[in-house]
Amino acid sequence: MKFLITGGAGYIGSHTLIALSEAGYDFVVYDNLCNSSQESLKRVSKIINKDIEFEEGDTRDKERLQEVFAKYDINAVIHFAGLKAVGESVEQPLKYYDNNVNGTLVLLDVMQEFKCKKIVFSSSATVYGDPSSTPIEENFPVGATTNPYGTSKYMIERILEDIVISDSSFQAIILRYFNPVGAHESGTIGEDPNGIPNNLMPFISQVAVGKREFLSVFGGDYDTEDGTGVRDYIHVVDLADAHVKALNYINSNKYETKNSTFNIGTGIGCSVLDMVKAFEKASGKKVPYKIVQRRAGDIAKCFADSSLAKEVLGWSASKTIEDMCIDSWRWQSNNPDGYSQSFNFKNI
Ligand code: NAD
Ligand code: UFG
Repeated sequence: MKFLITGGAGYIGSHTLIALSEAGYDFVVYDNLCNSSQESLKRVSKIINKDIEFEEGDTRDKERLQEVFAKYDINAVIHFAGLKAVGESVEQPLKYYDNNVNGTLVLLDVMQEFKCKKIVFSSSATVYGDPSSTPIEENFPVGATTNPYGTSKYMIERILEDIVISDSSFQAIILRYFNPVGAHESGTIGEDPNGIPNNLMPFISQVAVGKREFLSVFGGDYDTEDGTGVRDYIHVVDLADAHVKALNYINSNKYETKNSTFNIGTGIGCSVLDMVKAFEKASGKKVPYKIVQRRAGDIAKCFADSSLAKEVLGWSASKTIEDMCIDSWRWQSNNPDGYSQSFNFKNI
């Protein structure tokens, strides 16, 4: 019995492979490597001291998926595969609906054909749009998304809900991630964005390592304590653990459809300037910044009420903002060019 991990070579997927391996779960990775490389899998393999089964393929390629399902006895899928750049999704919406929504439809079709009825899906806090209050609970309104990426996540959530209605033996878990950051403590795997990072933590790391001159802080006039945007940053290792807890739950007799969507965050709001300070402390480097115009589509505050995940999955975050900064810095300073540079494991 195996789990299929779509998108397993990516940032969150690669960290989750370690947590799955530590929990004794067996898996096969399915990824088209459009935003990753096999180098991440090689490094995970070193960390877990085991070869990783990898099948290259696209979630939209039905025949390739059928081959993989025919080859392995797949009990459940963790579905990470998807495109995630918010700005790009505004410019190229069809690319996002095709990859994310169509890719999921093809995957679900093949799962149905092979009677695989369990899926854990990577959703996002973005489905809440601009929430009327914080902390955000799972029963807050969803769907008022502000970009095609967010809409694709909302659409997939609705598709999964409809399948569950049509087939009571189908089990889906939706994990709504808040802001994943950090890296594995080995410093050998982490987030490796292409080009100029869109997200805060990789941008700050690149300023600290000297690759970029300063951070542009998008807006200093929000209704928050210091005027900058507040988010719920979650360490990727804690997030990886949430997937193990989700698989434990979906494979237990405790699973209930009414309790199958979970916020995965720390519940703690952290401003952009809080993060800059924490990163400077962790790295011992200065992070120069300039406050500039707000970024279109950004909201003031977003943080989770994750008490349902604690109650039902037995999951809660354990790592602090300091841990997130220390681990991001270790990854960034050991790998200034990400996975494109080979890594000498003898040095760790
Ligand atoms: P990532 O880009 O690092 O990983 C995604 C992986 O999926 C990559 O390895 C990519 O090559 C693969 N992939 C993409 N399209 C594919 C396709 N059609 N077929 C096969 N493989 C494909 O991203 P990540 O940060 O690890 O995110 C994983 C999931 O979590 C995504 O679905 C993302 O939308 C979601 N998510 C991410 C964040 C975040 O801030 N990182 C927040 C909320 C939700
Ligand atoms: N920010 C800056 N400067 C930067 C980058 C970001 O000031 O160079 C600020 C933003 O304005 C925001 C905060 O830092 O206040 C966090 O921004 P990110 O881009 O890191 O994250 P977002 O909250 O905008 O979005 C992220 C993912 C989305 C996901 C969402 C919720 O990019 O895909 O979290 O999970 F949907």
